[in-house]
Amino acid sequence: MSSDFYETSPALAQYLILHYGPAEWQLPSSASHSEAADFPVRCVQEGFRWQELPPHPTALELGCAVGRSCFELSRRCRRVVGLDRSETFLQAARLLQEAGSIRCPVPLEGDQIEDRDFSLPVGVCPKRIDFRVGDALSAAFEKRFDMVLAANLLDRVSDPTALLDRLPALLHPGGQLLLSSPFSWLSEHTSRDRWLLPGSQRVDSLLLPHFTLLRRWDLPLVLREHPRKFQWCLPEATLWRKKPF
Ligand SMILES: C[S@@+](CC[C@H](N)C(=O)[O-])C[C@H]1O[C@@H](n2cnc3c(N)ncnc32)[C@H](O)[C@@H]1O
Repeated sequence: MSSDFYETSPALAQYLILHYGPAEWQLPSSASHSEAADFPVRCVQEGFRWQELPPHPTALELGCAVGRSCFELSRRCRRVVGLDRSETFLQAARLLQEAGSIRCPVPLEGDQIEDRDFSLPVGVCPKRIDFRVGDALSAAFEKRFDMVLAANLLDRVSDPTALLDRLPALLHPGGQLLLSSPFSWLSEHTSRDRWLLPGSQRVDSLLLPHFTLLRRWDLPLVLREHPRKFQWCLPEATLWRKKPF
């Protein structure tokens, strides 16, 4: 495994819990943040304006991690491409796609771990999904899409402006883009001179020439590190429609 955090076992456990774990693994019932559970499901079900899309749209998820949003998209999309740079995450997503479940050690306390099983929810269509290892800044796609989802990727790429610049070309006119970010800039991912500050305003100025802003809202999530430590994040979500030119 490389030194990339997203290739490590703790990262895999965090994201399997975030995407597939029951709500009580994501957050204890004593915590009052249950609205932050099931982030990848909420992105897909509540984030897009499905009624304004073609009946069986195509979708691309950039930075899909272990794939839960792709599986949710597969319920209504005829074709879904899920792209991520992490081979570890994509290997887990493909195992879920093929076997329907995966067993993975999750941290308990200190160096104690426990194996947990993660399963696909009922009603998803795994065969519609094409999981690809690749770089969101440079990967080529054969066709444009009706929907693009990029959740919490912007502040993890080396060049956020380049990512935003390529988004219009990935969508059909009228297609929808759902972008979310906590704007949690770190120099280990993005050199200081490339941070977009303040993120919300810089994203607007780069996207507004190509897109109409449909909605802006808070989309909380919880990442479980161990049973007594959780990262509660409050990404800003924006939904955009590509202009017809
Ligand atoms: C903060 S996680 C978000 C994962 C997922 N979208 C979610 O919200 O649960 C960032 C993800 O982006 C991936 N990633 C980072 N840089 C990338 C790049 N240049 N191209 C593709 N994926 C990338 C990481 O491997 C990781 O899965």
